[in-house]
Amino acid sequence: MSSSFNVHDAAGYEQLMGRWSNKLAPLFIDFVGLANGEKVLDVGCGTGSLTFALTRFADLREISAIDYSPVFVEAANRRNTNPRITIQQADACALPFEDATFDRAMALLVLHFVPKAGEAVAEMRRVVRPGGIVAAVVWDHLGGMPAMRMMVDTVAALSEGGRQLRNRYCFQPMMQPGEMQQAFVRQGLVDVTATELMIRMDFQNFDDYWAPIAAGEGPLGKFMTVLDATERARTDAAVRDAYEAGRPDGPRSFTSVAWACRGVVP
Ligand SMILES: C[S@@+](CC[C@H](N)C(=O)[O-])C[C@H]1O[C@@H](n2cnc3c(N)ncnc32)[C@H](O)[C@@H]1O
Repeated sequence: MSSSFNVHDAAGYEQLMGRWSNKLAPLFIDFVGLANGEKVLDVGCGTGSLTFALTRFADLREISAIDYSPVFVEAANRRNTNPRITIQQADACALPFEDATFDRAMALLVLHFVPKAGEAVAEMRRVVRPGGIVAAVVWDHLGGMPAMRMMVDTVAALSEGGRQLRNRYCFQPMMQPGEMQQAFVRQGLVDVTATELMIRMDFQNFDDYWAPIAAGEGPLGKFMTVLDATERARTDAAVRDAYEAGRPDGPRSFTSVAWACRGVVP
């Protein structure tokens, strides 16, 4: 298996995560840097949050984007009107590019869904020229994502299946402190630096938060699809209670912290 990300529907993804990866993308680009005339690869582009953000930060010569999911590749291609952007289906662990093709390879919220994430870093290094930059960012599900911890902690209190979901969710690849830096160093990248990036996820009300998960989007949504009607109703009510936290339904704002890492190809 090359991807553990559960894709249901591109519009659902936008509501679940695309709107937040859109906020994270500029912070990531700031950390990674960009220069006019470069060729950049977006690995695991999804619906294109980073791909399209890149065009706002520099006059790039070429942007190539790949994703494992044909559903997302189709949605991103539908959005694309820029002839310098090419989007195709491919596996991060077997990138369809020659060695040293790009100035930068970037992965926004991807490596934690690649079971052999080290292979993806090795591939990113291979397709970037000497002196170029490889960079990635992943959420800190365990300690930095209260909006989603609220759901996984709630289901963990309700069932053994929920406890297993929490365990998987909190310990996806590259999420532990220092883990991504070590992977970058192991793959021979030099001048490896890391930082934390933070955004807020602002929801209008419980439905705004819950609808994409309830509809089956992403790893938490996948969990919902296997529950029977009684378990579903119990889960909906318990997560709603956690969201509302004793006040009437309405807007809630949660911080979300991501680990970011970048290294230079020697
Ligand atoms: C959370 S989404 C992030 C998408 C996009 N970068 C964004 O920030 O909105 C994770 C993405 O990683 C992609 N992915 C997971 N494993 C992959 C692999 N082995 N090769 C390419 N893409 C992969 C999924 O298909 C999905 O689009």
